[in-house]
Amino acid sequence: MASKKIIIANWKQNGSLRSLYTLTNQIIRAIKLKKIKHSIAILPPHVYLPMLSKQVLSNKKLKNLSIGVQNVSAFPDGAYTGEVSFEMCKDFGSKYFLVGHSERRQLFSESDALISKKVSRLLSCNKKVVLCVGETLAERNKKLEKKVISKQLTSALSLLSQGSNIKTNNIIVAYEPIWAIGSGKSASNKDIYNTHFFIKKKLATRFKSCKILPKIIYGGSVNNMNSKDILSIEGVDGALVGGASLNAKKFIEICSSI
Ligand code: 13P
Repeated sequence: MASKKIIIANWKQNGSLRSLYTLTNQIIRAIKLKKIKHSIAILPPHVYLPMLSKQVLSNKKLKNLSIGVQNVSAFPDGAYTGEVSFEMCKDFGSKYFLVGHSERRQLFSESDALISKKVSRLLSCNKKVVLCVGETLAERNKKLEKKVISKQLTSALSLLSQGSNIKTNNIIVAYEPIWAIGSGKSASNKDIYNTHFFIKKKLATRFKSCKILPKIIYGGSVNNMNSKDILSIEGVDGALVGGASLNAKKFIEICSSI
């Protein structure tokens, strides 16, 4: 069997109480029927975390299904109107914390500095971070993708001191080329391989004293037609799926494609 992957469903600002409950049940059923062998995480909107975590966590046998959130505050309790801390999400079983998604960076002006605060706070508290990086189409057309990703990675990890005892297996880097998100056009297999290889080399240098390197997953128009090819690329440890993860049939096919 192929090595175990991590496949993460980012539901973004989509769904309703009823639709996400049904979707979660369908995923649970597929796992119980042993259709899915990989590790799966669902990232619902924050408000649905309490309900869906009950659904996920009450199934003790579902070891490979976890829940997480799409964004988290950089700060502990305090006067931060509208923000939600990781401690609050953890109360409802959140295991994964997505940070630095391009939609947060572009639509909500999240800066590299804020993202690095979030990353260091989560990692220093032994939490699992899914850190998104990726270039725009304009940057890609100017062949700047490596430079951009390198800067995003360096900045996101900049507040962690070299000798700190953070666990590298708490880090997942998601390579999401922005032009591939929601466009129906994923990056080519060759580009995915090359970029993952580049990220891996950077991480190997950054964490040279660590035995385990962070996992690297791909996101951007992953669907049930291309998932087998993408998940089979050397260096791809999993996928971050947006649109197709809102459709139970498609998402289950993605998760069981290799
Ligand atoms: P799509 O799968 O819809 O392209 O979205 C990718 C994404 O942004 C996941 O975080």
